[in-house]
This record gives sequence, C-alpha cells and structure tokens, in this order.
Amino acid sequence: MGSTYEILAERLARSFERLAPGADPVLRASDRADFQANGVMALAKTLGRPPRDVAVEIVAMNDLDGVAVVEVAGPGFLNITLEPAFLAAQLGALVGDERLGLARAASPKTVVIDYSAPNVAKEMHIGHLRSTVIGDALARTERLAGNHVIARNHVGDWGTPFGMLIEYLLDLGEDRAIAELSIGDLNTFYQGARTAFDADEAFRDRSRARVVLLQGGDPETRRLWHLLVDQSVAYFSQVYAKLDVTLTPRDVVGESFYNDALEGVVADLDALGLLEESDGARCVFPPGFTNRDGERLPLIVQKRDEGFGYAATDLAAVRDRVGRLGANEMLYVVGAPQAQHFAMVFAVARSAGWLPDAVRCEHVAFGSILGPDRKMYKSRSGETVKLVDLLDEAIERADEALVERGTDLEDEARHELATQIARAAIKYADLSTERQRDYVFDLDRMLAFEGDTGPYLQYAHARLRSILRRAGDVELGAAAFTLDNAPSRALALGLLGWPDAVASMLEGAAPHRLCTYLFDLAQRLTAFYEACPVLSAEGAVRVERLALCELAARTLALGLDALGIAAPERM
Ligand code: ARG
Repeated sequence: MGSTYEILAERLARSFERLAPGADPVLRASDRADFQANGVMALAKTLGRPPRDVAVEIVAMNDLDGVAVVEVAGPGFLNITLEPAFLAAQLGALVGDERLGLARAASPKTVVIDYSAPNVAKEMHIGHLRSTVIGDALARTERLAGNHVIARNHVGDWGTPFGMLIEYLLDLGEDRAIAELSIGDLNTFYQGARTAFDADEAFRDRSRARVVLLQGGDPETRRLWHLLVDQSVAYFSQVYAKLDVTLTPRDVVGESFYNDALEGVVADLDALGLLEESDGARCVFPPGFTNRDGERLPLIVQKRDEGFGYAATDLAAVRDRVGRLGANEMLYVVGAPQAQHFAMVFAVARSAGWLPDAVRCEHVAFGSILGPDRKMYKSRSGETVKLVDLLDEAIERADEALVERGTDLEDEARHELATQIARAAIKYADLSTERQRDYVFDLDRMLAFEGDTGPYLQYAHARLRSILRRAGDVELGAAAFTLDNAPSRALALGLLGWPDAVASMLEGAAPHRLCTYLFDLAQRLTAFYEACPVLSAEGAVRVERLALCELAARTLALGLDALGIAAPERM
C-alpha cells in the first residue's frame, strides 16, 4: 500500500499523463481542501490551452473516483477532498500497523553515513555536536526505512601531531597518561603536549623522530599510538552513550585505516593521467574549480614531503566504500567549511571512475552553533565547550524544572527523565533548524515545554499516553472513523502524512522536515483536544477518539525515535 499522498498523486498523474507525458500534477497539502494540485497551469502552457479548460477536462476523467472529490478552483487549481470512506479505510489500516503505513524499502540500499569524526586525543566539543546528531538521525531514519546503514566514524587518528602526543605520553608515564585520558581529560593532555612542543627544542626533535618511527611501523611506537587511539575511542563511546547516539567502536574507521591504500590511489590517478606536479606536490586539477583569479585549484594528494594528505585519505575512503562495502549512497555529515574539499574529492573520484553516476554521494553540510553574541559558541572564559559539560548543564536544568513542576518521581527516575528531556532539547534544537543555517545555542529556549522544542513533543506524547492509560482497556481495532469535524479530520490527514514526512526527510537529508511534521502533528492534536473531549465521550465516539490518540502517540514516538529522541511514557 502506498501512502495516501502517493495514491492520490499516482491517480492524478494518470489524468495528467493522458494530456502530456511526464506532466507533474504538483500535489500539495492545502488549506482550502485536503490537498490541491497546482500542476494545471504548467500543463496548460505546454498544451497552449486555457488552464480552466484543462482543469475541467481532468476532473471529467474521474481518475480519483472512490478516493476523492476534485473541484476546479481559481484560474485552474484542483481542490481535492478525500471521500470519507476512503479516509476512514486508510486510517483504519494504520491501527494494526506498527510502522503506521511506512513501507519498508523494496530493494534496500546500502547507505554509508560518515559522521561525528572527532580527533584522537582531543576533546569532543560543541563543534562535533551537529555532525553527531544529524548523522545519527539520518542513520536511524534510513534504518527505519529498511535500508542497510554502514556508519563510518572517520576519526582523525593519524598525522604529525601523533609524534608529539606519543612523546608526551612517554614523558608523563603510561599509567598517568592513561589515567588522564580515561577520565576524558583530553584537553589537559593535548594542551600539555602542545606546551611541551612549543617550549622545548629537544622535545620537538624527539616528536619529529617519533613521527618517522610511527610511519615506518616501529612496533613499540605503534603500541603507544594504539594506546592513545583506544583510550580516546573508549572516551568517545561514553559521550555517545550519554547523548544516546548509536555509534559504536565498530563504526570507528579512522584515517589510518586507509594508509595502505594511499600509494595505490596516487599510482592509479597517475596511470589515468590525472596527476600533475605543482610546487613539488602531486595534484589533480578537477575541471570547474578555480580561485577568484580564475586559476585552477589543485586537490593535493601527495605533499612535497611525500606525505599523503586529507584528500588522499578521502579518495581511498570513496574507493573502499563503493568498491568493498557496495555503497549505493554516501552521506558525509561534515560542516559547511569543507564544501569545496568534498566537491573536489567527489569530482576527482568520478573522473577516476571510482564513483559511478548511480551512486548518490552528498556532502550533508551544516552551519555553525552560535553564542548569544552571534559569534561561534564559546564558554565564558573563551574556550570551546566540552560536549559532556553541555549535556550535564542541560540535565541539571531539566531536573530543576521537573522539581519545580512538582514531580513525584524518586531521584533516580527523575534523573533519568531529566536526561531524556535534556537530550531531546539539545538534539531537537539542532535538527529542527534547516541544517545549512547557523543557530544560537540557547538552553532556556531549547528546554521550554512550550513552542517548537523537543520537550514539547515529548510532552505531547506523554499526555496522549496518560489519556490512554486512564481510558483503560479499549478494543481500538473496532474503531469506526467518522471524522465528522474539522479538527479530527485534520488530525487524521496529519497521521496519514507520516510516510511522506520520512521520505521527504531522507530525500533531502533534511531532519528539519521530520521535525516540522511532528510539530505540526502536535498542533493538530491541540486543536483536536479543544473540539473533541476524549475520556468524557461515550460509545463509538470515545473509541474513535481514543484510536486517534493512540495513532498520534505512536506516530510521535516513532518519529522522535527516528530523530534519536526518547518518548517517555510520563513526564
Ligand atoms: N576529522 C575531521 C575534522 O575534524 C572530519 C572528518 C570528516 N569526514 C571525512 N571523511 N573527511 O575536520
């Protein structure tokens, strides 16, 4: 079964196709009716006929018979109102369907999602929030749609800083270093290494020698490097658990993973005749990339000092993901400043034949998180803010708010609920912003129980659950949907839009579309409660209203879950 929208769109397309192959009905939700089709104007233009005539002809084709009533409006719009019996049947089908009408992908795709990607031995800070939260929402929603998701946490675990980090680890002593790293004191560790490097010539020399040993595969150096990586990955896992993010250590496939493939990347680019020397570096100049002066821009794959760079690693990663993992789709959830890097990597990979046209490959770029001064978010002392500290503050505030509201929960249960609310607040504020845009990080606004916030949606769900608990055991399968007033009809239409909201989010890699859908649904609920008392209703009316509540509760829970947000039963 397709979604209600899809059924309408398909039937309408039949009518349009009869007049011009490929004509798009442009079907949209409407304020004037349930839906409206805006495609008649364009069709009339192609045909060179008056739009109203075309509209009348389409209505007369009767392709929507039994499904909806179609009327011509204005200069040539089609207003579409669903037949009550069809609407009731569509809704009835959702009652026993745990996916609420969301079809599972008929031929599942393999979707590789590159997200989070912090750097080893460096703190996870607010700059990693967006990639982590957006990437995880995309991963969860792709899984929900039935696709095979391979998460890739492309951590920075290689390069010259590791010489300095290993030497510093030795100076501290392994035990002390591990102690510092395991409690997540990565800033202190990194800063310590940096300070030693800047202050001490001998330390710098040792660090450089250490890089050479690392690259040469010296076993003891490798062991120390592994220590750093393992400690950091263990710490990242704690942060992910705290945020309720699905990434695991198995998803960590860092830059170093591709080391052995880098020479092959360069050799193959060379064999393809794509490599050029420029200032001693080996580069590819993909067509169409120039700087302000019109000079061609290089993608550097091998530096003058023979070392391979970030771009070579990403080229190797593309080959691995397409060739070995069989990706049909690749999403890179990385900040907007890397747009050019990815555009060039993808262009080079395409011209080398490593990235077939059939593979969708997208840089899922996002904007910055700003402070109240609209500059990059910083702590009061001007430092970057640790992700865990941010979450802890939100949990504390959510907890205070629960106490203020007079919750009767015991300490532990209250803390758990506060944690769920805090995560919801932070994640939803991020996801509900169109991702290319910057947003101001404002915990007060994010944590509010009113407005377009995560806690508001959680509350809308908990309120429904409370109604359903109080209603007791009711056989909802017996519900007959009359939908005989505007707010319940509007709620029903909202519920039927769930599969389309998911599809639209995935199509644009745009979590805010799912957020908008859920917030809109919550508002439809508010109007519904006002017009339709639930618990005090009787007989069949009560059953119908309870069934609407139950569908709404499940839709909210499923939608929040797709975003990585818990839907507690009580709040
Ligand atoms: N670690 C990188 C950084 O902090 C992000 C990596 C993004 N992923 C990639 N495949 N390049 O900038």
